Amino acid sequence: MKLPFAESYRIKMVETIKRSTREERANWIKEANYNLFGLKSDYVFIDLLTDSGTGAMSDKQWSAMMEGDESYAGSRSYYNMKDAIKDILGFDYFIPTHQGRAAENVLYSIIIKEGDILPGNSHFDTTKGHIEFRKAIPVDCTIDEASDTQLEIPFKGNVDIAKLEAVLKKYPKEQIPAVVLTVTNNTAGGQPVSMQNIKEVSALCVKYDVPLQMDSARFAENAYFIKTREEGYADKSMREIVREMFSYADIMTMSSKKDAIVNMGGFVAFKSEELWKSCQKICIMNEGFITYGGMSGRDMNALAQGLHEGTDFEYLETRIKQIEYLGQKLDEYNIPYQRPAGGHAIFVDAKKILTHVPKEEFIAQTLGIELYLEAGVRGVEVGALLADRDPVTHENRYPELELFRLAIPRRTYTNNHMNVIAAALKNVYDRREEITRGYEITYEAPIMRHFTIGLKPAE
Ligand code: F0G
Repeated sequence: MKLPFAESYRIKMVETIKRSTREERANWIKEANYNLFGLKSDYVFIDLLTDSGTGAMSDKQWSAMMEGDESYAGSRSYYNMKDAIKDILGFDYFIPTHQGRAAENVLYSIIIKEGDILPGNSHFDTTKGHIEFRKAIPVDCTIDEASDTQLEIPFKGNVDIAKLEAVLKKYPKEQIPAVVLTVTNNTAGGQPVSMQNIKEVSALCVKYDVPLQMDSARFAENAYFIKTREEGYADKSMREIVREMFSYADIMTMSSKKDAIVNMGGFVAFKSEELWKSCQKICIMNEGFITYGGMSGRDMNALAQGLHEGTDFEYLETRIKQIEYLGQKLDEYNIPYQRPAGGHAIFVDAKKILTHVPKEEFIAQTLGIELYLEAGVRGVEVGALLADRDPVTHENRYPELELFRLAIPRRTYTNNHMNVIAAALKNVYDRREEITRGYEITYEAPIMRHFTIGLKPAE
């Protein structure tokens, strides 16, 4: 008999999570103004709001923390991080920052000026925020296939090369500080970018003399998909694939809260010594001295160790198979989601489920509230609330897709939890015809409204 798959680790420390009643949850979500971000975490049974900073560190990471060097300048932990970044990713220069968006801030404060254009595949919210805040424009050149959730192709996060070239042709290179390639493509559903596509994007960057920045939060998951899906990579090691991916990049920004499996931390890494030097002043002003940036020594040590563990094939296989497992359970129940299952999350296609809820009443948010009421499972809306208002007309923007993201923290939940999530979704799915109304806004901030929004049931 073929042996079944099992996790490549065992559990040494546990954290209690609490069940609740539907009645309690109905009160709590009302108190939170129907905003999932407004819930106390104690009111959540299975928390899939994000896979960012929510993973479980290993015994080796915790022991590395004990050896953290908290020296203000020249800390040993900085050099441990430097060695890991050079060894695994191939970059000579880097600046530690407190998380990914801080890395974007350090870099973009130097390279972006008003009116600039930054093409790429779906920029992450904070990346987009940092670009738009500087009155520059992110241009999304993701392949069109990414918005057909039922289409099953291996590299749905890819850049459409023709769209990218059109942008590079249209504007002078002085107006394009970087092409931003996000691996994996979070917004499109945690979908990977192929090595072939990375090469083609890089070739265009060389042709038009524009630097390539990789937003690398989930680079290791991307590398796993290259190994398991792309021709010619099955026999290459994770390290070889990762090194090849970054051989094409000039700059990388990293939220280490994802694939470096730490609770806090990030960095920006450079091939160019000159750019590294010019970014240092922004780090000193906002983050801290250049050998710790926004991080403590113990956190830099855990990050260095996490880069090794996060690029280990056995670990990645365990992780990605768990997301696949959840996808298979949803398949059994005919629940539609962005196919194939992503690297860090399942993106449920809410529009295909709640067909009676008008888009003006926030379909994906409505599904999220129903799932929370059903079982205390918390995910996050990737739909009209997140899309926010048009900055010029102030009208609501209604994106083509209304997705509800279930992001799976690393090494944190078991497949029994996946069974609960799938069963809870099935129960909501079974009563989908009865769900006809959504929510209306009672309060919203002028930008990034989804975090603090207030809602009430639509009447
Ligand atoms: N880039 C990508 C692709 C991300 O997914 C994130 C964060 C960031 C940059 C910013 O990093 O949070 O460390 O400042 N994504 C989280 C999420 C928040 O839930 O997807 P950060």
